[in-house]
Amino acid sequence: MIDVQNITKRYGHHTAIENVTFSVAKGEVLAFLGPNGAGKTTTMRILTCFMPPTEGTARVAGFDCVDAPMEVKRRIGYLPETPPVYQELTVTEYLTFVGRLRGLTSSSLTSALNRVVERLQLGSVRHRLIANLSRGYRQRVGLAQALLHDPPVLILDEPTVGLDPKQIIEIRELIKNLAGSHSIILSTHILPEATAVCQRVVIINGGRIVAEDSPEQLSARLRQSEKISITIKAPPPDCEERLRTIPGVLNVFPGQGPGNFLVECALGHDLREELARFIVSREWGLLELKTVSMTLEDVFLRLTRHEEGMPQPSEPAAAVVSEPEPSVREAAP
Ligand SMILES: Nc1ncnc2c1ncn2[C@@H]1O[C@H](COP(=O)(O)OP(=O)(O)O)[C@@H](O)[C@H]1O
Ligand SMILES: [Mg+2]
Repeated sequence: MIDVQNITKRYGHHTAIENVTFSVAKGEVLAFLGPNGAGKTTTMRILTCFMPPTEGTARVAGFDCVDAPMEVKRRIGYLPETPPVYQELTVTEYLTFVGRLRGLTSSSLTSALNRVVERLQLGSVRHRLIANLSRGYRQRVGLAQALLHDPPVLILDEPTVGLDPKQIIEIRELIKNLAGSHSIILSTHILPEATAVCQRVVIINGGRIVAEDSPEQLSARLRQSEKISITIKAPPPDCEERLRTIPGVLNVFPGQGPGNFLVECALGHDLREELARFIVSREWGLLELKTVSMTLEDVFLRLTRHEEGMPQPSEPAAAVVSEPEPSVREAAP
């Protein structure tokens, strides 16, 4: 449904994204995960025909974003970072305005409006001025605007930023309900968001894609060793060195708190029994022993900190400090 091939976007001498390639199948939800300044919004603006890529091609439902922008826009619902709402209109007035822009008239407009008002639970505020709505409701109005013409593709730029935990859960539920019938790209810099609603995650950093897989596979693929956390009541001063003598142990690090150590073993070697035997037979007092799995959070930090052995962006994200305001205000499509 969405197919992005080798797109690069340069702002003057600054390369915002470089050689970005990914695709989204029908009904799939893809998380575009990356720290601030990674290039998420830039990619979404290209997909929504807001601006052309410097190089590469982006297609939605088979239509090229540069050659056939009207066809693309018809099939897309876009929620920009800041909801493109007009403060001085009521919810109904605003959605009617957007509906007309979308080419909906009379009865189809009324039924579309009722549908989104119900879906986003906007009934109680539909006659209120947008200026007087809470952040959560304004975000819902933004989503209503994106869903009004029932597009097959949804592009949501950080849809839960600035919402309270209850509103975040509501928006995530809504996105989950839209999956299957819609192809969705959702950008986020928050990890739990990616794992909560998406089947696939693309991690972008410094304008380049550094990883792509399901949340589970990503952590599995990048795990290079098993780690076991042990807590010992009375460790001897040379505890670390002695633990290193156990066959299969790659390394031992001090853990968190007194008597806690992290033991690194080769992948596929579960040394829990050996470790327990070793410590108990020496009467050091084994208080706790457990495997520590690498979370997606670890993977994300590792990938975005450019550790050795990982693909490296040409320009470190740390060099990108200031985020200039976009020169054009995003308006309703
Ligand atoms: N209109 C612009 N002019 C110049 N540089 C920009 C512009 N928009 C974004 N950038 C730069 O491009 C990079 C990617 O930005 P952006 O796509 O907004 O990242 P994200 O959405 O992941 O936070 C950043 O370094 C940002 O400063
Ligand atoms: Mg952004």
